[in-house]
Amino acid sequence: MPSYRVTLRTSSGDRHFSLAAGGTLLRAALRAGLPVARSCRGVAVCAACKMKVLDGTANLAPPGPAETALYAREPLRPNERYACQARVHGPCTVTTTYW
Ligand code: FES
Repeated sequence: MPSYRVTLRTSSGDRHFSLAAGGTLLRAALRAGLPVARSCRGVAVCAACKMKVLDGTANLAPPGPAETALYAREPLRPNERYACQARVHGPCTVTTTYW
């Protein structure tokens, strides 16, 4: 299974994590040792795990039913995704407001 480099942009520089295809942005950030705001254990309920996609938007799978339903309740800004639901299928760069 291919893996892809996820770049996590923080105020102190970039961190990287190589993630197997289909893994989530949440997994990449946690494996890279970065905190991610959340309270629902990654099941598309809390709407706290927003990440801004800086590059590679096309390398994320389109929102599935759970993320679409969450978005209807808690809309995202342009280029934002819910990290627990956004699955990686190519290199990308993301950030949060608190990194
Ligand atoms: S972790 Fe709760 S919606 Fe993503």
